[in-house]
Amino acid sequence: MNQVIDTILNHRSIRSYLDKELPEEHLELLVRCAQKAPSSNNGQPVTIIAVTDKAKKAQLSELCGNQAFIAEAGVFFAFCIDFYRGKLACEKTNNEFYITDELSATVIGTFDAGLAMQNMIVAAESLGYGTVPIGGILNDSHAVIKLLEIPDYVFPICGLVVGFPKEQSAVKPRLPLKAVFNREKYDMNQRIYIDEYDEVMTKYMEERTNGESRRNWSETISRVYRVKGRRSIKQAMENQKFYNR
Ligand SMILES: Cc1cc2nc3c(=O)[nH]c(=O)nc-3n(C[C@H](O)[C@H](O)[C@H](O)COP(=O)(O)O)c2cc1C
Repeated sequence: MNQVIDTILNHRSIRSYLDKELPEEHLELLVRCAQKAPSSNNGQPVTIIAVTDKAKKAQLSELCGNQAFIAEAGVFFAFCIDFYRGKLACEKTNNEFYITDELSATVIGTFDAGLAMQNMIVAAESLGYGTVPIGGILNDSHAVIKLLEIPDYVFPICGLVVGFPKEQSAVKPRLPLKAVFNREKYDMNQRIYIDEYDEVMTKYMEERTNGESRRNWSETISRVYRVKGRRSIKQAMENQKFYNR
């Protein structure tokens, strides 16, 4: 097709890296690509903190749930929702600043950060780097905020590891296209599509683990969704002056 589409369709997360730094010009190029993503109202409420210092990466690796490859890979980008600049703009123009008191700041910020991150992923993978997003950054927000000296109205929402792959991984199958590609109205046959996908994922897991695991998608995702989630996120955001009034 073309190189952009090939890159997107060949995506797989990489969790094994060479201990090798990215050239400085690539760090900047990757952030420029992230920055070009569309932004709600052009508010650009996203700041990306690149961590290349080995000691800091090792700390982040622990804080993000002992994910060892974070310390190995060339760079860890902390994607932050950032309304600090918006607050300064309101102060500069003598306006009240309310957006962070509403859910909308979290929705807008998370959406913009996600678009920026995906731009970076595609750009990095097109250059031959491996990537993996790190939701583990939410495990201990307080410690991450302290480590990266993040001010009020700014919140680290997701990490992204980028580095030179040591090993390639297999492309992970997705749900059947018909599950997510609905026409004219929502397709209620989702349970049938899940059954189909569970069979595909059983085979995928069997191959990937040399027969050790046959865990399908329903089993995997229900282990995540059956817990009540990270309740500390709301408290950590309140500490950063989100939902403050
Ligand atoms: C918001 C988000 C957070 C994620 N957090 C982690 C993480 O902390 N550790 C990890 O190994 N993978 C993480 N991932 C990667 C997913 O597990 C991965 O994208 C998914 O299993 C699909 O596999 P693929 O990327 O290889 O296609 C995260 C992905 C997203 C989008």
